Amino acid sequence: MKSACLLLLLVSACWALPFRQSGFLDFMMEDEVGSGVPDAMAPMPPMPPDMPVCPFRCQCHLRVIQCSDLGLKSVPDKIPSDTTLLDLQNNKITEIKENDFKVLKGLHALILVNNKISIIHAKAFMPLAKLQRLYLSKNQLKDMPNNMPKSLQELRIHENQISKIKKASFEGLLNVIVMELGSNPLKSSGIDDGAFADLRRVSYIRIADTNLTEIPKGLPSSLSELHLDSNKITKVQAERLLGLKHLAKLGLSDNEISLVENGTMANVPHLRELHLDNNVLTTVPPGLPDHKYIQVVYLHNNKIATVGTEDFCPPGFNTKKAMYSGISLFSNPVPYWEVQPITFRCVFDRSAIQLGNYRKK
Ligand SMILES: *[C@@H]1O[C@H](CO)[C@@H](O)[C@H](O)[C@H]1NC(C)=O
Ligand SMILES: *[C@@H]1O[C@H](CO)[C@@H](O)[C@H](O)[C@H]1NC(C)=O
Repeated sequence: MKSACLLLLLVSACWALPFRQSGFLDFMMEDEVGSGVPDAMAPMPPMPPDMPVCPFRCQCHLRVIQCSDLGLKSVPDKIPSDTTLLDLQNNKITEIKENDFKVLKGLHALILVNNKISIIHAKAFMPLAKLQRLYLSKNQLKDMPNNMPKSLQELRIHENQISKIKKASFEGLLNVIVMELGSNPLKSSGIDDGAFADLRRVSYIRIADTNLTEIPKGLPSSLSELHLDSNKITKVQAERLLGLKHLAKLGLSDNEISLVENGTMANVPHLRELHLDNNVLTTVPPGLPDHKYIQVVYLHNNKIATVGTEDFCPPGFNTKKAMYSGISLFSNPVPYWEVQPITFRCVFDRSAIQLGNYRKK
């Protein structure tokens, strides 16, 4: 990395300037501006004043600026304006100021994970017109940043102190595909109705390890994965999943769910995986026999006391149904020897079924 950087600097410097042997003082200057090249023994021409320099102690290579693990307390200045990736993770940055990213009009990815950021100036992200990935996880933010770029495709902001998602928070973010919001002190009452409405391309949302008591309202129909594990959700309301015709994975493990409403499965016709383990269900969720694509149903660690012969498979034997590849029922009060074998008549691979408590994980 360093030698490639040196080579790059030499090549570009040579293109920019006729070669001349530099003197001792030039080396001193070179060191002061911090070219990122530690070896001052090689003769180097001096930098012209408008040449982008690598911030002190960072490593710069092919428009990628790596400044992680340097104990930085603020965003370095003099970041080259053609930077496409700026990595500032594992530092001690506390604040993002208005002009910190002012020149970075071509930046694609900004990594600020694991700092101490509690303040982001409302206009700080506005110049980043090409930003696609914004990683802000493991900071001390109390609010969603304002004016996030419309070009954004991926927002990761888990492990912060965010308690509210306002209607304006994600306004205009039409290009977002991945959103990671887990481990924030979020409650259902802290999420405005319609907060997700503008995310028309989003395919992955994760809000795990928060204090949600309900599945959020108004989720975008583009969703293919919804992960709401480790919350305090008490029931699955069918209406909350209405229109999610692309949803393939639904994660609801480790909640307090006692009821899956009738009609839930019909609202997610392409669901393949349903994780409902570690809840307090007393019956198998309704609608599985009629569902065409469901393959994985995790129901272990619940309070299911009976399993009926029509809970998983349609009536009769010659039925068209996608193959189940995983059904878990262990750690439920149902005596597994009382579950009739014909209950799983539409499951072709019996090893897909984890029934008895001897399969405890
Ligand atoms: C959820 O609420 C409990 C009790 O009020 C609190 O102790 C916990 O920290 C909250 N969880 C999160 C992720 O904020
Ligand atoms: C769900 O549907 C079943 C069968 O149609 C019915 O017996 C049950 O009462 C319904 N449950 C609810 C909560 O509507």
